[in-house]
Amino acid sequence: MIDEERFRNNLSLIKNVSVVSGAEIILAFKGFAMWGIFPILKEYITGAAASSPHEARLCFDEIGVPAHTYSPAYIEAEFNEILKFSSHVTFNSLAQYSKYSEILAGYPEKISAGLRINPEYSEIGHNLYNPCSPGSRLGITAGDIEKEGIPDGIEGFHFHVLFESDSYALEKVLGVVELKFGKFFHKLKWINMGGGHLITREGYETEHLVRILKEFMERTGLHVILEPGSAFGWETGELVATVEDIVENQGIKTAIIDASFTAHMPDCLEMPYKPKIIGATDPVQGKPTYRLGGNSCLSGDFMGEWSFDGELKPGDRIIFLDMIHYTMVKTTTFNGVQHPSIGIWTLDNKFRLIKKFGYPDYKNRLS
Ligand SMILES: Cc1ncc(COP(=O)(O)O)c(C=O)c1O
Repeated sequence: MIDEERFRNNLSLIKNVSVVSGAEIILAFKGFAMWGIFPILKEYITGAAASSPHEARLCFDEIGVPAHTYSPAYIEAEFNEILKFSSHVTFNSLAQYSKYSEILAGYPEKISAGLRINPEYSEIGHNLYNPCSPGSRLGITAGDIEKEGIPDGIEGFHFHVLFESDSYALEKVLGVVELKFGKFFHKLKWINMGGGHLITREGYETEHLVRILKEFMERTGLHVILEPGSAFGWETGELVATVEDIVENQGIKTAIIDASFTAHMPDCLEMPYKPKIIGATDPVQGKPTYRLGGNSCLSGDFMGEWSFDGELKPGDRIIFLDMIHYTMVKTTTFNGVQHPSIGIWTLDNKFRLIKKFGYPDYKNRLS
């Protein structure tokens, strides 16, 4: 369940940064795509970044504008859909651009083409999230662009190298990008600085971000686009589960809940990260301590451990915090487990159900 007040707070902060800096900020659907509340989103922002024909179409249908689209590789059979629903299309390699550039040039609507660059510099320590790890498939290096030059028709550069980062990380990245790619800027109209800007995290220095963006725009004359995902849904809502059973094995107690980490919170296992739970802490000696186990058959579908003030029992509520960005877009019905309903807690203190899932949703995905 997303909380309207917290969501609006994030949106107004993001809008304010955009207005004051002059940079365009759009939502990366890959991180948050709960379109049932896009009427609220549209009061603040007017565009989205897509990574597939489905996301591009969702942008067109539910935000009412074509998307800024990027994919590591465009599939031939899908490229027309991409064109139909995009205003900007960014290519991951020179070969992909050369494959599609004629179709793009002949398309009746004007679509702005860009290249994803790889500055080979990132502050991300964890390779699962580092687009600049050695041998990365994501983006064209300065060396390769220098060898071949920028092809005709390219109007923009796109880079994405941050993850839950602050403005100081962006400042360092910009230094590297300008050093390695600045010589090509005069050929361009725009630069998309990707996502990973956690503008809505407490302590993020938005004045510093505004300053570096303004200075960059003054220096280069480029239109700047940011496409964060996490920042929109950051700390705006919870996943509510119920304890169904308590089991104990070799002194380890597991509370089995009616939700699943692998199906409903796969980002916890992938990253991995341990979500916060209302009324629970990291293990404290002497306090009742539990693993929480999902209701799928995957042996690793558990996380732990948390300490609670009292022993857990069937029927107890477990409320996982910050379960909106990424968590929701990654959910599955693995094992046929019941999908959690999605709703919003509105400004007039009412719960509005946005979507309840049932057997047809499970079945229709499979055949
Ligand atoms: C190309 C691109 N843009 C935007 C984003 C959104 O990043 P975040 O949700 O960390 O802001 C991602 C995330 O992986 C990405 O790969």
